[in-house]
Amino acid sequence: MDLEGKVALVTGGSGGIGRSICVGLAARGCDVAVNYFSRRDEALMVVDEVRRLGRRGMAVRADVSKMREVEEMVKCVVREMGGIDVLVNCAGILIVRPSILEVTEEEWDRTIEVNLKGVFNCCKAVAKHFIEERRGGKIVNISSIAGRNGGTVGVHYAASKAGIIGLTMSLASELARYGITVNAVAPGPVDTKLIPDELKEKLAAMVPLGRIARPDEVASAVIFLLENDHVTGATIDVNGGRWYS
Ligand SMILES: NC(=O)c1ccc[n+]([C@@H]2O[C@H](COP(=O)([O-])OP(=O)(O)OC[C@H]3O[C@@H](n4cnc5c(N)ncnc54)[C@H](O)[C@@H]3O)[C@@H](O)[C@H]2O)c1
Repeated sequence: MDLEGKVALVTGGSGGIGRSICVGLAARGCDVAVNYFSRRDEALMVVDEVRRLGRRGMAVRADVSKMREVEEMVKCVVREMGGIDVLVNCAGILIVRPSILEVTEEEWDRTIEVNLKGVFNCCKAVAKHFIEERRGGKIVNISSIAGRNGGTVGVHYAASKAGIIGLTMSLASELARYGITVNAVAPGPVDTKLIPDELKEKLAAMVPLGRIARPDEVASAVIFLLENDHVTGATIDVNGGRWYS
């Protein structure tokens, strides 16, 4: 897909990776709706960056774990921007609990609700628009190395991110008949606020390339998947060669 003149909705768009994706999309000519949950100021700063690149930008609040809020968000973006062509599901939370014995039921539920059900909610609401109004579209979901190899931060996070990979493959085959592609990116550790600072050095030492990723290195994989029309159901690993936990 030529991204020039298209409209993208990026969940978690005010976060470290989300911001890079929003700016990367705007640089390729996309108008961008920046979803946020609580950090409105940060979302507005990203909108400013999008506008400085000459594109339309808007901030839109929704808790992705709540279907009603997601449906309202999609309606609002369609109304304000005239439609949606691209969905990037980047919203996510990480509660570091390396032992299953430490994971509370509430932490399990919230992690699955935001990281996995949030992707389901957004894909469902936007797929309806893609099928009925656009006859096409692109979806990229942000998974994690933890969804590939289990990772080191806990069963709840690994399960949510592995679920995204299964959802991506299933939805890709379902939506292919409408010309809609659905892919995922599985980053290893990335330099954002999601990872506690004290963990970053330890994680960098475990990456064969010798450092954790920059957010723009994840964004460029997302953009590749959005621009390509024949890759679907795939997961691209951006992990510096760290295949094992
Ligand atoms: N940083 C890493 O090392 C890393 C590695 C692999 C995967 N990821 C994934 O990348 C994605 C982005 O993470 P990041 O590193 O940029 O972290 P971040 O904390 O900077 O960004 C996460 C964003 O998600 C938003 N969010 C959280 N809960 C939400 C909700 N209920 N509704 C809407 N938005 C919500 C936050 O407000 C924030 O903007 C996440 O899905 C994360 O799991 C990150």
